[in-house]
Amino acid sequence: MARRTGAIAPLPITTFHAQARGGHYPPPRARPRQGTTPTGRIAMASAPQIEVPDPTALVREDKVHRSVYTDPAIFALEMERIHGRAWLYLAHESEFKAAGDYVVRHLGTQAVILTRDKQGAIHGIFNRCSHRGATLCAFDRGSAPHGHQCPYHGWTFNADGSVRFVSHPRNYDGVLDPADQAIQSVRIESYRGFLFGNLAADAAPPLLDFMGHMKTSIDDLVDRSPTGKVECGPYVLRHYYRANWKMTFENLNDTIHPGFAHAASVVSARNVASALPASEQPVATLGMMLANGKPIQFFQDIDMVTAPGGHSYIGGHMGASYTPDAQNGYVQAMTAFHGAERTREILSIDRHLMLLYPSSFWHARYQTVRILRPVRHDLTEMIGFVFRLVGAPDETYANAVEYCTGANSAASPVIADDLEIYERCLLGNGFGDQQWIPMSRGLKETREVTNAFTRSPATSEAFIRNQFAAWSSYMAQA
Ligand code: FES
Ligand SMILES: [Fe+2]
Repeated sequence: MARRTGAIAPLPITTFHAQARGGHYPPPRARPRQGTTPTGRIAMASAPQIEVPDPTALVREDKVHRSVYTDPAIFALEMERIHGRAWLYLAHESEFKAAGDYVVRHLGTQAVILTRDKQGAIHGIFNRCSHRGATLCAFDRGSAPHGHQCPYHGWTFNADGSVRFVSHPRNYDGVLDPADQAIQSVRIESYRGFLFGNLAADAAPPLLDFMGHMKTSIDDLVDRSPTGKVECGPYVLRHYYRANWKMTFENLNDTIHPGFAHAASVVSARNVASALPASEQPVATLGMMLANGKPIQFFQDIDMVTAPGGHSYIGGHMGASYTPDAQNGYVQAMTAFHGAERTREILSIDRHLMLLYPSSFWHARYQTVRILRPVRHDLTEMIGFVFRLVGAPDETYANAVEYCTGANSAASPVIADDLEIYERCLLGNGFGDQQWIPMSRGLKETREVTNAFTRSPATSEAFIRNQFAAWSSYMAQA
């Protein structure tokens, strides 16, 4: 058959063995390969071989192949090579107030229970019983001071995964030593109270090396506390969207889309703001929606900062002191703790979202952190948390909750736009002849390159190119 003009040559194929790991939900889908069995089915006697295009062939300097969003086999490989190697944000130490307090979070698609033990240490173990693999803990958070008991046969485990109790132990005399049945633990490291996990264990670099320059955005959040302490609030904002996990990463530092995708809320916000008395400052969500309508030249003038590892942030566009919580004693409390000069320095930092690739989004000014959890190539969960600056006026926390609810929840008019767009992009990349997606906006507009970071205009797609540079680097390593 004659080839169509402009058709793309088939990409080279590589294979990898899907590892059978506890906690995968759903299990990686294997693609039937011709000739694998007479019926074309995957032979189940051994780990299935999954075929994916050579990942390094899917990314060019200025474009990316659309299959990175649509192919379940690529998703499975990402979970092995990216989420299986990067440091992923899990929880904050303040979520574990007493011995036995736990939360269940994910490293990629693998569920992990984090629990504080009696000595105060926090452990991470896979959420699977070592007897027959049953999910051990069905709740997102709670207290298990006497250990986690499996609902199937009652085996019970300590915070560190060691076996505390095996039901009907005489059946195991001379057969199985419970001491050998500990649940596998995961490597955890903390930075200023924020806990990260890594599936690569000793092969992973130190957390600080992974974060590099981006640790300054976590400092930005914690330094805003007038006691040096922050506390994770009880509100958890959770929603799913039916599209690829990378689409959120490629959206949150994109300053061109708000004026278009969020145009309706910009118009509404202007109407609301025009009716406010001159003395009244808009609440943070309203300020954010108004800022979305700023002229593109405004965003061209501010900076986007990208750093090795796929991380990035953009300069603030809402104004650092947009809400009035600098009144009511906040600045005085900050000055008492940090001193006047340092307080001025801290409060003058004005960054919008920091994207810590590939798992979390940080907004220091409004003390919000969101975890992105990939579920399938076409399903993603977002989990949002709001932090209290210990010692700050209640109004500061109320403003942060207002912002997180208005800007990040599923009920937000802004998020609703974005979720619709992600689903449209996944749909559109599933058909038609166009195989490659350009990511060349601002390619020739780099402002500054240092060892720690690169500065570009905030209108650039430099952050997407930076993410795919990291993506390629992770995916190239077998
Ligand atoms: S599967 Fe957990 S005790 Fe049997
Ligand atoms: Fe958006």
